[in-house]
Amino acid sequence: MTWRAVAPLEELTENLPLAVEVDSDGGEEVRVALVQHEGEYFAIHDVCSHGQVPLSEGDVEDCSIECYLHASTFDLRTGRALNLPATQPVPVYPCRVVGSDLEVDVDNPIPADALAS
Ligand code: FES
Repeated sequence: MTWRAVAPLEELTENLPLAVEVDSDGGEEVRVALVQHEGEYFAIHDVCSHGQVPLSEGDVEDCSIECYLHASTFDLRTGRALNLPATQPVPVYPCRVVGSDLEVDVDNPIPADALAS
């Protein structure tokens, strides 16, 4: 695990995604949308799997984020596409609070079926 501090908690607002870029171990910058929702924090890849637009510009509701372009929604816990037109999941990343910062590990995405019920 390579945890990286990505934002002070004070920069996050409930249900308002915050777009950040996070360095990966491979030297690539990964676009991530940070979301505070109902007392939890989530980190989801900030690119819709359907049309390559930023998910951080969408609305957050019921533990999901909606793509502003064609209204597919993605589960913030698993990255699954919950409705058409998107059919492919979006990576989600582990995140944790350390002190007053949110940390994310972009090198170890959470498997899409990790929270399957
Ligand atoms: S671009 Fe996101 S649903 Fe089409």
